[in-house]
Amino acid sequence: MKTTKTFLQMKKEGVPIAMLTAYDAPSARLAERAGVDMILVGDSLGMVVLGYNSTVPVTVDDIVLHTKAVKRGAPSTFVVADLPFFSYHTSFSETATHVRRLIQEAGADAVKLEGGYERVETVRQLVQAGVPVVGHVGLTPQSVGVLGGYRVQGKEEDDARRIVEEAKALEQAGILALVVECVPQQLGQLLSQTLTIPVIGIGAGETDGQVLVYHDVIGYESAHIPKFVKQYANVSEVIEAGLQSYVDDVKVRKFPEKTHMYMTKQAEKLSLYG
Ligand code: KIV
Ligand code: NA
Repeated sequence: MKTTKTFLQMKKEGVPIAMLTAYDAPSARLAERAGVDMILVGDSLGMVVLGYNSTVPVTVDDIVLHTKAVKRGAPSTFVVADLPFFSYHTSFSETATHVRRLIQEAGADAVKLEGGYERVETVRQLVQAGVPVVGHVGLTPQSVGVLGGYRVQGKEEDDARRIVEEAKALEQAGILALVVECVPQQLGQLLSQTLTIPVIGIGAGETDGQVLVYHDVIGYESAHIPKFVKQYANVSEVIEAGLQSYVDDVKVRKFPEKTHMYMTKQAEKLSLYG
């Protein structure tokens, strides 16, 4: 399995890191088979799987359940689990309780948390306790209420400078990689050049690695497709056609056919069958 060390080496050698979210065993199995370097059990789970309209309602229990499924599907892939909304903001002991569940109980290889300066101390404490941590700056969806919507971050020079300084502080605190979401391509590039650890972008242009949401990549009923997504397949179409055929066949008694039926030679001896 690739490790923190592998990812550093990949950055050094200029080998791009392909990260993808996954939320269940079959999708994780396919991601592993496709050679995904790192799987993220993102709290995007709330939107693309659980049907919420933000990541805010997602709980630690949700992430634990789905991380377990992902680890069973992709036992040989480095799996990062998102710490959900307000699960790492109150005290270190409460944060530690949640992190312990994600790592020990669910089997995550690392946790990811959103934020800049205000997260540095938590990151330092977690890393000192032996927990691999991934950072997340730029657009931080758990703060959508404060940010006032999902929009590009770091467009102004001040904001961009702050994001770079926060990234450096997080690196200093010991994160193994940094996810950067929805920033101008110039900022993504600058961050990749500035940091020693891998910068994994989503809507951040050319960075050391890329991450996208599973359902966006395969075209599986994602409600809103942002500009930064490239859709590589349209599985909604395939699934819808398959389901429609099934329903149609049942309705006209074309399914089940003989090949789908169990027969017994004893039928005439069983009073049950008359
Ligand atoms: O939850 C998620 O899917 C994420 C990625 C968008 C980076 O945090
Ligand atoms: Na997330």
